[in-house]
Amino acid sequence: MRLKVTFVLFLLILPLALANLRVGFYRRSCPNAESIVRAAVRRRLSRDKSITAALLRMHFHDCFVRLIDEAKKALEATCPSKVSCADIITLATRDAVFLSGGPFYFVPTGRRDSLVSDPDEVNLPGPILTVSEAFQAFRAKNMSMDDMVTLLGAHTVGVAHCSFFLDRITRPDPTMDRGLAAKLRSICGAASGTNPDPTAFLDQATPFAVDNQFFKQIGLKRGVMKIDQELANDPLSRRIVSGFAANATLFRTRFAQAMVKMGNIQVLVREIRKNCRVFNPRRRI
Ligand code: HEM
Ligand SMILES: *[C@@H]1O[C@H](CO)[C@@H](O)[C@H](O)[C@H]1NC(C)=O
Ligand SMILES: *[C@@H]1O[C@H](CO)[C@@H](O)[C@H](O)[C@H]1NC(C)=O
Repeated sequence: MRLKVTFVLFLLILPLALANLRVGFYRRSCPNAESIVRAAVRRRLSRDKSITAALLRMHFHDCFVRLIDEAKKALEATCPSKVSCADIITLATRDAVFLSGGPFYFVPTGRRDSLVSDPDEVNLPGPILTVSEAFQAFRAKNMSMDDMVTLLGAHTVGVAHCSFFLDRITRPDPTMDRGLAAKLRSICGAASGTNPDPTAFLDQATPFAVDNQFFKQIGLKRGVMKIDQELANDPLSRRIVSGFAANATLFRTRFAQAMVKMGNIQVLVREIRKNCRVFNPRRRI
């Protein structure tokens, strides 16, 4: 019962809590927050180039990146319980994108961490959706087709497991370049007991750089996942794709905007976790 009352109260204050993101939120409460995060990203990236992909993906999926613990530890030492894990992720992603050749952008901060991590809330669209089906999920969050194509440009870094594109290489797929199909068959054919589901780069040209190569590649039928290739083929999105392929600056500008926009959706302002992996111990109310 008490819990229910709390929940209703929570719903009532939610609209107030939602409207509080701004650039430089920690300027007073934790002036070094952004530079502490940047230093952690820099340290980690020098050892492991794949963290940019992991961070970008985290915005979309609820999986965890260890870098975050490192940054959180440093921040808890300097300004305890001030900077939320959600903001650390947002800032770290921004820095990793920039350090991987992408645009720099200012991100609003002031997020709190959610009290629940409900697997049902993580609504990742599958890789074999059509463009119009994938767009349903984005439109539900007030994102445009242009936003969606731009954000899928995040597939300019990182990898996909064979299980996500196996059906495209076991049967001939006329929408895939034959050279790529052969390469992927060889990667996935090497599956073994210790590595049952190998991975392939999503961007065949520059797999660690945040750039417009992904769009050039899918223009050459070199998209690995079906949804990526569909972007270049579907009349709903292909003009946006060729625009990005032709103009690197345009992609940089739009990517920065779309990342900020994505970071602003579903900001549920609740608590600041001490440890980014677990919820704070509940006090009895
Ligand atoms: C329709 C939308 C999307 C679909 C269907 C989709 C699907 C997928 C799938 C199936 C993978 C492979 C995962 C694996 O093999 O473990 C993947 C990887 C990835 N996705 Fe997406 N994704 C979408 C949108 C996005 C967005 C909006 C972003 C970020 C802005 C993003 C960033 C990434 C990154 C960076 C990777 C590589 C991860 C890594 O190497 O660690 N994706 N995506
Ligand atoms: C939806 O997006 C439009 C344009 O991008 C913006 O003006 C509007 O405020 C957004 N609405 C909501 C509810 O976020
Ligand atoms: C590329 O995009 C930028 C940014 O929108 C724009 O200012 C520029 O005119 C475009 N260049 C070409 C050649 O279209």
